[in-house]
Amino acid sequence: MKRDGATVSLWQTNVADHITTSTTSSDITYDVLIVGGGITGITTALLLQKAGKKVAVAEAHTLCFGTTGGTTAHINSFLDTSYDQIESDFSKEAAQLISKATNSSRELFKKHVADYKIDCGFEEKEGYVYAQTPDQVDELNKMFEASKRAGADLEYVQDIPVPVEFLKAVVYHSQAQLHPTLYVTALANMFEEGGGIILQNCKVDAFEKEEDLLNITTGNGTIKAKNLIWATHIPPGINILHFRNAPYRSYAIAVKLNGEYPDHLSYDMYDPYHYYRTQEIDGQKYFIVGGEDHKTAHEENTEACFNDLIAHTTKYFDVAEVSHKWSSQYFEPSDGLAYIGHLPGNPDNVYVATGYGGNGITYSHIAAQVLTDLITKGDSEYKDLFSPARIKPIAGFAAFVQENADVVKEFVTKRLSPEKIKGLSELAHGEGKVVKMEGETVALYKDEAGKIYALNPVCTHAKCIVGWNPSEKSWDCPCHGARYNVDGEVITGPARRGLQKIELGDLIEGKS
Ligand code: FES
Repeated sequence: MKRDGATVSLWQTNVADHITTSTTSSDITYDVLIVGGGITGITTALLLQKAGKKVAVAEAHTLCFGTTGGTTAHINSFLDTSYDQIESDFSKEAAQLISKATNSSRELFKKHVADYKIDCGFEEKEGYVYAQTPDQVDELNKMFEASKRAGADLEYVQDIPVPVEFLKAVVYHSQAQLHPTLYVTALANMFEEGGGIILQNCKVDAFEKEEDLLNITTGNGTIKAKNLIWATHIPPGINILHFRNAPYRSYAIAVKLNGEYPDHLSYDMYDPYHYYRTQEIDGQKYFIVGGEDHKTAHEENTEACFNDLIAHTTKYFDVAEVSHKWSSQYFEPSDGLAYIGHLPGNPDNVYVATGYGGNGITYSHIAAQVLTDLITKGDSEYKDLFSPARIKPIAGFAAFVQENADVVKEFVTKRLSPEKIKGLSELAHGEGKVVKMEGETVALYKDEAGKIYALNPVCTHAKCIVGWNPSEKSWDCPCHGARYNVDGEVITGPARRGLQKIELGDLIEGKS
Protein backbone atom coordinates (compact mmCIF):
# COMPACT_ATOMS: atom_id res chain seq x y z
CA MET A 1 0.00 0.00 0.00
CA LYS A 2 1.32 3.47 -0.88
CA ARG A 3 2.02 6.11 1.75
CA ASP A 4 3.21 9.71 1.90
CA GLY A 5 6.85 8.90 2.71
CA ALA A 6 9.89 6.87 1.72
CA THR A 7 9.88 4.68 4.83
CA VAL A 8 7.53 1.70 5.03
CA SER A 9 5.10 1.38 7.92
CA LEU A 10 3.87 -1.90 9.37
CA TRP A 11 0.45 -1.14 7.89
CA GLN A 12 1.67 -0.98 4.31
CA THR A 13 3.20 -4.45 4.29
CA ASN A 14 1.04 -7.14 2.70
CA VAL A 15 -1.90 -4.76 2.26
CA ALA A 16 -2.88 -4.01 -1.31
CA ASP A 17 -4.00 -0.58 -2.44
CA HIS A 18 -7.78 -0.39 -2.50
CA ILE A 19 -9.06 -1.03 -6.02
CA THR A 20 -11.96 1.12 -7.02
CA THR A 21 -13.65 1.53 -10.33
CA SER A 22 -16.03 4.28 -9.28
CA THR A 23 -16.77 7.14 -11.61
CA THR A 24 -19.10 10.06 -11.27
CA SER A 25 -20.76 12.64 -13.46
CA SER A 26 -21.68 16.29 -13.10
CA ASP A 27 -25.36 15.30 -13.49
CA ILE A 28 -25.33 13.68 -10.05
CA THR A 29 -25.79 15.79 -6.95
CA TYR A 30 -24.34 14.29 -3.80
CA ASP A 31 -25.54 15.09 -0.34
CA VAL A 32 -21.93 15.12 0.80
CA LEU A 33 -18.53 15.12 -0.87
CA ILE A 34 -15.77 14.10 1.52
CA VAL A 35 -12.24 15.06 0.56
CA GLY A 36 -9.71 12.62 1.99
CA GLY A 37 -9.67 8.81 1.97
CA GLY A 38 -8.12 8.24 5.36
CA ILE A 39 -9.81 6.80 8.43
CA THR A 40 -11.81 9.97 9.13
CA GLY A 41 -13.06 10.36 5.55
CA ILE A 42 -14.06 6.74 5.02
CA THR A 43 -15.70 6.30 8.44
CA THR A 44 -17.66 9.53 8.05
CA ALA A 45 -18.72 8.44 4.56
CA LEU A 46 -20.06 5.16 5.89
CA LEU A 47 -21.95 6.77 8.78
CA LEU A 48 -23.54 9.35 6.48
CA GLN A 49 -24.49 6.63 4.02
CA LYS A 50 -26.11 4.63 6.84
CA ALA A 51 -28.05 7.79 7.70
CA GLY A 52 -29.48 7.81 4.18
CA LYS A 53 -27.13 10.30 2.51
CA LYS A 54 -25.69 10.02 -0.98
CA VAL A 55 -21.96 10.32 -0.45
CA ALA A 56 -18.78 10.44 -2.54
CA VAL A 57 -15.18 10.43 -1.32
CA ALA A 58 -12.39 12.10 -3.33
CA GLU A 59 -8.83 11.12 -2.38
CA ALA A 60 -5.88 12.88 -4.03
CA HIS A 61 -3.76 9.74 -3.90
CA THR A 62 -4.92 6.30 -2.72
CA LEU A 63 -6.76 5.26 0.46
CA CYS A 64 -4.71 5.58 3.66
CA PHE A 65 -1.94 7.43 1.78
CA GLY A 66 -1.71 10.06 4.52
CA THR A 67 -1.31 9.72 8.27
CA THR A 68 -3.72 6.75 8.51
CA GLY A 69 -0.99 4.64 6.91
CA GLY A 70 1.62 5.98 9.34
CA THR A 71 -0.22 5.88 12.66
CA THR A 72 0.52 3.50 15.53
CA ALA A 73 -3.24 2.96 15.94
CA HIS A 74 -4.01 3.38 19.62
CA ILE A 75 -7.67 3.79 20.60
CA ASN A 76 -7.69 5.56 23.94
CA SER A 77 -10.06 6.87 26.58
CA PHE A 78 -7.54 9.59 27.42
CA LEU A 79 -5.79 12.08 25.16
CA ASP A 80 -2.35 13.68 24.92
CA THR A 81 -4.04 16.69 26.49
CA SER A 82 -4.62 15.34 29.99
CA TYR A 83 -7.96 15.60 31.76
CA ASP A 84 -6.54 18.03 34.35
CA GLN A 85 -5.32 20.24 31.50
CA ILE A 86 -8.73 20.11 29.84
CA GLU A 87 -10.39 20.99 33.16
CA SER A 88 -8.15 24.00 33.66
CA ASP A 89 -8.16 25.24 30.04
CA PHE A 90 -11.82 24.46 29.34
CA SER A 91 -14.01 23.13 32.18
CA LYS A 92 -14.95 20.04 34.18
CA GLU A 93 -17.92 19.57 31.85
CA ALA A 94 -15.57 19.66 28.85
CA ALA A 95 -13.42 16.93 30.41
CA GLN A 96 -16.54 14.82 30.98
CA LEU A 97 -17.60 15.32 27.37
CA ILE A 98 -14.15 14.25 26.15
CA SER A 99 -14.39 11.10 28.26
CA LYS A 100 -17.79 10.37 26.76
CA ALA A 101 -16.53 11.09 23.21
CA THR A 102 -13.54 8.78 23.53
CA ASN A 103 -15.78 5.97 24.79
CA SER A 104 -18.14 6.45 21.87
CA SER A 105 -15.15 6.31 19.52
CA ARG A 106 -14.06 2.92 20.86
CA GLU A 107 -17.63 1.62 20.81
CA LEU A 108 -18.00 2.60 17.17
CA PHE A 109 -14.81 0.72 16.27
CA LYS A 110 -16.13 -2.28 18.17
CA LYS A 111 -19.49 -2.12 16.45
CA HIS A 112 -17.97 -1.88 12.97
CA VAL A 113 -15.61 -4.78 13.61
CA ALA A 114 -18.53 -6.92 14.91
CA ASP A 115 -21.18 -5.84 12.39
CA TYR A 116 -18.96 -6.20 9.34
CA LYS A 117 -16.85 -9.08 10.72
CA ILE A 118 -13.64 -7.17 10.00
CA ASP A 119 -10.47 -9.19 10.46
CA CYS A 120 -8.15 -6.36 11.46
CA GLY A 121 -6.62 -7.50 14.75
CA PHE A 122 -8.96 -5.32 16.80
CA GLU A 123 -8.49 -6.05 20.50
CA GLU A 124 -9.53 -4.33 23.68
CA LYS A 125 -6.55 -3.69 25.93
CA GLU A 126 -5.55 -1.95 29.14
CA GLY A 127 -3.54 1.27 28.88
CA TYR A 128 -0.74 1.81 31.45
CA VAL A 129 0.74 5.23 32.13
CA TYR A 130 3.75 5.34 34.46
CA ALA A 131 5.77 8.03 36.21
CA GLN A 132 9.56 7.77 36.53
CA THR A 133 10.45 11.00 38.34
CA PRO A 134 8.92 12.80 41.35
CA ASP A 135 7.61 15.54 39.05
CA GLN A 136 5.95 12.96 36.88
CA VAL A 137 4.40 11.39 39.98
CA ASP A 138 2.78 14.76 40.83
CA GLU A 139 1.57 15.03 37.26
CA LEU A 140 0.22 11.47 37.33
CA ASN A 141 -1.68 12.11 40.55
CA LYS A 142 -3.32 15.20 39.07
CA MET A 143 -4.13 13.28 35.93
CA PHE A 144 -5.62 10.44 37.95
CA GLU A 145 -7.94 12.67 39.97
CA ALA A 146 -9.12 14.64 36.94
CA SER A 147 -9.61 11.46 34.90
CA LYS A 148 -11.83 10.08 37.68
CA ARG A 149 -13.84 13.30 37.79
CA ALA A 150 -14.24 13.13 34.00
CA GLY A 151 -15.64 9.61 34.26
CA ALA A 152 -12.67 7.63 32.92
CA ASP A 153 -12.28 4.09 34.23
CA LEU A 154 -8.81 3.84 35.80
CA GLU A 155 -6.95 2.80 38.93
CA TYR A 156 -3.47 2.80 40.45
CA VAL A 157 -1.44 -0.36 39.81
CA GLN A 158 1.73 -1.94 41.18
CA ASP A 159 2.83 -3.61 37.93
CA ILE A 160 3.14 -2.53 34.34
CA PRO A 161 3.57 -4.71 31.22
CA VAL A 162 6.96 -3.27 30.18
CA PRO A 163 10.26 -3.96 32.00
CA VAL A 164 10.94 -0.32 32.85
CA GLU A 165 11.59 1.07 36.32
CA PHE A 166 8.86 3.37 37.54
CA LEU A 167 7.68 5.12 40.68
CA LYS A 168 3.94 5.10 40.23
CA ALA A 169 1.51 3.89 37.57
CA VAL A 170 -2.14 3.89 36.60
CA VAL A 171 -4.11 1.69 34.26
CA TYR A 172 -6.91 3.06 32.09
CA HIS A 173 -9.32 0.23 31.36
CA SER A 174 -11.02 -0.37 28.01
CA GLN A 175 -8.45 0.86 25.51
CA ALA A 176 -8.11 -0.80 22.12
CA GLN A 177 -5.85 -1.35 19.12
CA LEU A 178 -6.17 -2.55 15.53
CA HIS A 179 -4.52 -2.78 12.12
CA PRO A 180 -5.66 0.53 10.62
CA THR A 181 -5.30 -0.03 6.88
CA LEU A 182 -7.09 -3.40 7.00
CA TYR A 183 -9.88 -1.75 8.96
CA VAL A 184 -10.24 1.22 6.58
CA THR A 185 -10.11 -1.00 3.50
CA ALA A 186 -12.94 -3.11 4.94
CA LEU A 187 -15.03 -0.01 5.68
CA ALA A 188 -14.36 1.29 2.17
CA ASN A 189 -15.64 -2.00 0.73
CA MET A 190 -18.81 -1.74 2.83
CA PHE A 191 -19.30 1.85 1.71
CA GLU A 192 -18.96 0.91 -1.95
CA GLU A 193 -21.23 -2.10 -1.56
CA GLY A 194 -23.82 0.31 -0.20
CA GLY A 195 -23.57 2.43 -3.36
CA GLY A 196 -20.94 4.90 -2.13
CA ILE A 197 -18.47 6.40 -4.59
CA ILE A 198 -14.73 6.52 -3.93
CA LEU A 199 -12.62 8.48 -6.39
CA GLN A 200 -8.91 7.83 -5.92
CA ASN A 201 -6.19 9.97 -7.51
CA CYS A 202 -8.81 12.69 -7.59
CA LYS A 203 -7.55 16.05 -6.37
CA VAL A 204 -10.07 18.63 -5.26
CA ASP A 205 -8.98 22.08 -6.34
CA ALA A 206 -11.70 24.56 -5.47
CA PHE A 207 -15.43 25.05 -5.13
CA GLU A 208 -18.01 27.69 -5.89
CA LYS A 209 -21.25 28.21 -4.07
CA GLU A 210 -24.37 28.25 -6.21
CA GLU A 211 -27.34 28.93 -3.93
CA ASP A 212 -27.39 25.93 -1.56
CA LEU A 213 -25.18 23.80 -3.76
CA LEU A 214 -21.41 23.61 -4.09
CA ASN A 215 -19.84 23.16 -7.51
CA ILE A 216 -16.58 21.43 -6.69
CA THR A 217 -13.73 21.37 -9.19
CA THR A 218 -11.83 18.10 -9.09
CA GLY A 219 -9.35 16.18 -11.20
CA ASN A 220 -12.33 14.09 -12.34
CA GLY A 221 -14.43 17.07 -13.39
CA THR A 222 -17.00 19.11 -11.51
CA ILE A 223 -18.89 17.44 -8.69
CA LYS A 224 -22.08 18.94 -7.27
CA ALA A 225 -22.69 18.46 -3.57
CA LYS A 226 -24.88 19.91 -0.85
CA ASN A 227 -22.09 19.60 1.73
CA LEU A 228 -18.31 19.38 1.63
CA ILE A 229 -16.05 17.89 4.33
CA TRP A 230 -12.30 18.43 4.34
CA ALA A 231 -10.95 15.24 5.92
CA THR A 232 -7.47 15.96 4.61
CA HIS A 233 -5.64 16.18 7.95
CA ILE A 234 -5.44 19.96 7.51
CA PRO A 235 -7.66 21.90 5.08
CA PRO A 236 -6.06 23.40 1.95
CA GLY A 237 -5.83 27.08 1.11
CA ILE A 238 -5.18 29.66 3.79
CA ASN A 239 -7.47 29.47 6.75
CA ILE A 240 -7.48 30.51 10.40
CA LEU A 241 -6.91 26.85 11.31
CA HIS A 242 -3.43 26.98 9.81
CA PHE A 243 -2.56 29.40 12.57
CA ARG A 244 -4.19 27.28 15.26
CA ASN A 245 -2.38 24.04 14.45
CA ALA A 246 1.31 23.27 14.38
CA PRO A 247 2.75 20.36 12.38
CA TYR A 248 4.80 17.73 14.22
CA ARG A 249 6.60 14.57 13.11
CA SER A 250 6.52 11.38 15.13
CA TYR A 251 8.65 8.24 14.76
CA ALA A 252 7.76 4.58 15.13
CA ILE A 253 9.47 1.23 14.83
CA ALA A 254 8.14 -2.33 14.73
CA VAL A 255 10.50 -4.95 16.11
CA LYS A 256 10.54 -8.69 16.62
CA LEU A 257 11.51 -9.68 20.14
CA ASN A 258 13.28 -12.69 21.57
CA GLY A 259 10.91 -14.10 24.17
CA GLU A 260 7.70 -12.61 25.48
CA TYR A 261 5.94 -9.66 23.91
CA PRO A 262 4.36 -7.18 26.35
CA ASP A 263 0.62 -7.30 26.19
CA HIS A 264 -1.45 -4.12 26.56
CA LEU A 265 -0.60 -0.49 25.80
CA SER A 266 2.03 1.45 27.78
CA TYR A 267 3.08 5.08 27.90
CA ASP A 268 5.86 6.86 29.75
CA MET A 269 5.51 10.51 30.80
CA TYR A 270 8.47 12.21 29.20
CA ASP A 271 7.97 15.00 26.69
CA PRO A 272 7.92 13.69 24.02
CA TYR A 273 6.66 10.46 25.50
CA HIS A 274 7.34 6.87 24.40
CA TYR A 275 4.51 4.47 23.72
CA TYR A 276 4.46 0.71 23.27
CA ARG A 277 2.14 -1.98 22.07
CA THR A 278 2.12 -5.39 20.37
CA GLN A 279 0.26 -6.26 17.17
CA GLU A 280 -0.01 -9.70 15.64
CA ILE A 281 -0.20 -9.84 11.83
CA ASP A 282 -0.49 -13.15 9.95
CA GLY A 283 0.72 -15.09 13.00
CA GLN A 284 3.80 -12.88 13.55
CA LYS A 285 3.95 -10.60 16.57
CA TYR A 286 5.42 -7.11 16.25
CA PHE A 287 6.30 -4.86 19.13
CA ILE A 288 5.61 -1.24 18.16
CA VAL A 289 7.45 1.61 19.86
CA GLY A 290 6.84 5.28 19.10
CA GLY A 291 8.17 8.65 20.17
CA GLU A 292 10.96 11.17 19.44
CA ASP A 293 8.39 13.71 18.20
CA HIS A 294 9.57 17.12 17.05
CA LYS A 295 8.18 20.08 15.17
CA THR A 296 8.10 19.43 11.44
CA ALA A 297 11.34 20.39 9.66
CA HIS A 298 13.02 21.24 12.97
CA GLU A 299 15.33 18.23 12.93
CA GLU A 300 17.92 17.90 10.17
CA ASN A 301 19.07 14.42 11.12
CA THR A 302 15.82 12.47 11.17
CA GLU A 303 17.74 9.18 11.05
CA ALA A 304 19.08 10.05 14.51
CA CYS A 305 15.48 10.05 15.75
CA PHE A 306 15.08 6.46 14.56
CA ASN A 307 18.43 5.54 16.07
CA ASP A 308 17.42 7.05 19.42
CA LEU A 309 14.16 5.13 19.32
CA ILE A 310 15.96 1.88 18.53
CA ALA A 311 18.52 2.54 21.29
CA HIS A 312 15.70 3.26 23.74
CA THR A 313 13.97 0.00 22.77
CA THR A 314 17.07 -2.20 22.97
CA LYS A 315 17.83 -0.76 26.41
CA TYR A 316 14.68 -2.38 27.79
CA PHE A 317 13.81 -5.21 25.40
CA ASP A 318 15.61 -8.14 23.79
CA VAL A 319 15.24 -7.06 20.16
CA ALA A 320 15.82 -9.78 17.54
CA GLU A 321 15.14 -7.60 14.51
CA VAL A 322 13.91 -4.13 13.61
CA SER A 323 11.45 -4.98 10.84
CA HIS A 324 9.91 -1.57 10.14
CA LYS A 325 10.67 2.05 10.87
CA TRP A 326 8.55 4.92 9.73
CA SER A 327 7.61 8.48 10.57
CA SER A 328 4.44 10.44 10.18
CA GLN A 329 3.07 13.94 10.59
CA TYR A 330 0.34 15.16 12.92
CA PHE A 331 -1.13 18.54 13.80
CA GLU A 332 -1.03 19.83 17.35
CA PRO A 333 -4.02 22.09 18.10
CA SER A 334 -3.32 25.40 19.80
CA ASP A 335 -5.51 24.76 22.85
CA GLY A 336 -5.19 20.99 23.06
CA LEU A 337 -8.48 19.83 21.50
CA ALA A 338 -9.32 18.91 17.91
CA TYR A 339 -11.25 21.19 15.56
CA ILE A 340 -14.32 19.42 14.18
CA GLY A 341 -17.23 21.25 12.58
CA HIS A 342 -17.94 24.16 10.28
CA LEU A 343 -14.81 25.53 8.59
CA PRO A 344 -14.54 29.24 9.52
CA GLY A 345 -14.63 31.70 6.63
CA ASN A 346 -16.52 29.25 4.41
CA PRO A 347 -20.18 28.65 3.49
CA ASP A 348 -22.27 26.96 6.21
CA ASN A 349 -22.17 23.63 4.36
CA VAL A 350 -18.36 23.29 4.45
CA TYR A 351 -16.91 21.25 7.31
CA VAL A 352 -13.50 20.20 8.58
CA ALA A 353 -11.84 17.82 11.04
CA THR A 354 -8.26 18.59 12.05
CA GLY A 355 -5.91 19.14 15.00
CA TYR A 356 -6.00 15.58 16.28
CA GLY A 357 -2.57 15.83 17.96
CA GLY A 358 -1.20 12.36 18.67
CA ASN A 359 -4.69 10.88 19.03
CA GLY A 360 -5.69 10.58 15.39
CA ILE A 361 -7.27 7.15 15.45
CA THR A 362 -9.40 7.95 18.50
CA TYR A 363 -10.42 11.33 17.08
CA SER A 364 -11.27 9.86 13.65
CA HIS A 365 -14.31 8.13 15.09
CA ILE A 366 -15.26 11.10 17.23
CA ALA A 367 -15.12 13.32 14.13
CA ALA A 368 -17.12 10.85 12.04
CA GLN A 369 -19.95 10.94 14.59
CA VAL A 370 -19.85 14.69 15.18
CA LEU A 371 -19.81 15.53 11.44
CA THR A 372 -22.60 13.03 10.72
CA ASP A 373 -24.76 14.59 13.45
CA LEU A 374 -24.02 18.12 12.24
CA ILE A 375 -25.02 17.24 8.67
CA THR A 376 -28.01 15.01 9.40
CA LYS A 377 -29.41 16.72 12.52
CA GLY A 378 -27.87 20.18 12.34
CA ASP A 379 -26.47 19.73 15.83
CA SER A 380 -24.14 17.67 18.02
CA GLU A 381 -23.60 17.64 21.76
CA TYR A 382 -19.92 18.26 20.97
CA LYS A 383 -20.56 21.14 18.56
CA ASP A 384 -19.25 23.91 20.83
CA LEU A 385 -16.44 21.90 22.39
CA PHE A 386 -14.83 21.03 19.05
CA SER A 387 -15.97 24.15 17.18
CA PRO A 388 -13.20 25.28 14.80
CA ALA A 389 -14.39 28.84 15.42
CA ARG A 390 -13.81 28.72 19.19
CA ILE A 391 -11.43 31.35 20.42
CA LYS A 392 -9.20 30.00 23.11
CA PRO A 393 -5.78 31.55 22.89
CA ILE A 394 -3.29 29.70 25.01
CA ALA A 395 -0.30 31.62 26.29
CA GLY A 396 2.80 30.85 24.31
CA PHE A 397 1.14 29.44 21.21
CA ALA A 398 1.49 32.63 19.15
CA ALA A 399 5.22 32.60 19.83
CA PHE A 400 5.29 28.93 19.06
CA VAL A 401 3.72 29.40 15.62
CA GLN A 402 6.01 32.36 14.98
CA GLU A 403 9.02 30.27 15.79
CA ASN A 404 7.98 27.94 12.99
CA ALA A 405 7.46 30.76 10.56
CA ASP A 406 10.72 31.21 8.75
CA VAL A 407 9.13 33.29 6.01
CA VAL A 408 11.32 33.92 2.99
CA LYS A 409 13.11 37.19 2.61
CA GLU A 410 15.76 36.11 0.15
CA PHE A 411 15.65 36.44 -3.57
CA VAL A 412 15.11 33.04 -5.17
CA THR A 413 16.64 32.39 -8.54
CA LYS A 414 14.76 30.88 -11.50
CA ARG A 415 17.76 29.38 -13.24
CA LEU A 416 21.10 28.14 -12.04
CA SER A 417 24.14 28.06 -14.25
CA PRO A 418 26.11 24.78 -14.28
CA GLU A 419 29.07 26.65 -12.71
CA LYS A 420 26.94 27.75 -9.82
CA ILE A 421 25.38 24.35 -9.41
CA LYS A 422 28.80 22.77 -9.30
CA GLY A 423 29.64 25.00 -6.38
CA LEU A 424 26.33 24.31 -4.72
CA SER A 425 26.19 20.62 -5.31
CA GLU A 426 28.61 19.25 -2.81
CA LEU A 427 25.95 16.93 -1.61
CA ALA A 428 26.21 13.26 -0.85
CA HIS A 429 24.11 10.94 -2.96
CA GLY A 430 20.60 10.84 -1.51
CA GLU A 431 21.14 14.11 0.37
CA GLY A 432 18.96 17.23 0.20
CA LYS A 433 19.73 20.72 1.45
CA VAL A 434 18.49 24.28 1.25
CA VAL A 435 21.54 26.21 0.08
CA LYS A 436 22.19 29.92 0.10
CA MET A 437 24.69 31.47 -2.26
CA GLU A 438 25.16 35.07 -3.33
CA GLY A 439 21.75 35.95 -1.97
CA GLU A 440 20.00 33.10 -3.75
CA THR A 441 18.25 30.25 -1.99
CA VAL A 442 17.76 26.86 -3.60
CA ALA A 443 16.44 23.50 -2.44
CA LEU A 444 18.84 20.92 -3.87
CA TYR A 445 18.57 17.16 -3.86
CA LYS A 446 21.02 14.69 -5.36
CA ASP A 447 19.58 11.24 -6.03
CA GLU A 448 21.45 7.97 -5.71
CA ALA A 449 22.49 8.13 -9.38
CA GLY A 450 23.93 11.62 -8.93
CA LYS A 451 21.14 13.52 -10.66
CA ILE A 452 20.49 16.91 -9.12
CA TYR A 453 17.02 18.34 -8.56
CA ALA A 454 16.74 22.06 -7.85
CA LEU A 455 13.61 23.72 -6.53
CA ASN A 456 12.53 27.06 -5.25
CA PRO A 457 12.33 26.31 -1.49
CA VAL A 458 9.55 28.83 -0.90
CA CYS A 459 6.43 26.93 0.12
CA THR A 460 3.56 27.84 -2.20
CA HIS A 461 1.14 27.95 0.71
CA ALA A 462 2.32 31.02 2.63
CA LYS A 463 5.97 31.45 1.66
CA CYS A 464 7.88 29.69 4.43
CA ILE A 465 11.12 27.93 3.53
CA VAL A 466 10.85 24.14 3.35
CA GLY A 467 13.33 21.79 5.02
CA TRP A 468 14.69 18.44 3.84
CA ASN A 469 13.40 15.29 5.51
CA PRO A 470 16.12 12.72 4.79
CA SER A 471 14.15 9.72 6.09
CA GLU A 472 11.01 10.35 4.09
CA LYS A 473 12.82 11.97 1.14
CA SER A 474 10.51 14.95 1.13
CA TRP A 475 10.62 18.72 1.46
CA ASP A 476 8.57 19.56 4.55
CA CYS A 477 7.27 22.99 5.45
CA PRO A 478 7.77 23.95 9.10
CA CYS A 479 4.91 26.46 9.11
CA HIS A 480 1.73 24.52 8.33
CA GLY A 481 3.05 21.13 7.30
CA ALA A 482 2.82 21.08 3.48
CA ARG A 483 5.07 18.40 2.00
CA TYR A 484 6.58 18.03 -1.47
CA ASN A 485 8.49 15.26 -3.27
CA VAL A 486 11.91 15.68 -4.87
CA ASP A 487 10.23 16.88 -8.07
CA GLY A 488 8.44 19.55 -6.09
CA GLU A 489 5.01 17.95 -6.41
CA VAL A 490 2.62 18.28 -3.47
CA ILE A 491 2.51 15.15 -1.30
CA THR A 492 0.24 16.62 1.36
CA GLY A 493 -1.46 20.00 1.80
CA PRO A 494 -2.28 22.63 2.77
CA ALA A 495 -0.35 23.75 -0.32
CA ARG A 496 -2.23 23.28 -3.56
CA ARG A 497 0.64 24.03 -5.97
CA GLY A 498 4.02 22.33 -6.20
CA LEU A 499 7.38 23.99 -5.59
CA GLN A 500 8.71 25.89 -8.58
CA LYS A 501 11.39 23.97 -10.49
CA ILE A 502 14.68 25.69 -11.15
CA GLU A 503 16.12 25.09 -14.57
CA LEU A 504 19.32 23.09 -14.66
CA GLY A 505 19.35 21.57 -18.12
CA ASP A 506 20.43 17.96 -17.77
CA LEU A 507 23.03 18.55 -15.19
CA ILE A 508 24.12 15.15 -13.99
CA GLU A 509 27.15 14.74 -11.81
CA GLY A 510 30.26 14.26 -13.90
CA LYS A 511 28.61 15.41 -17.12
CA SER A 512 28.60 19.19 -17.11
FE1 FES B 1 2.02 27.10 5.05
FE2 FES B 1 4.21 26.12 3.98
S1 FES B 1 2.52 25.06 4.70
S2 FES B 1 3.78 28.17 4.40
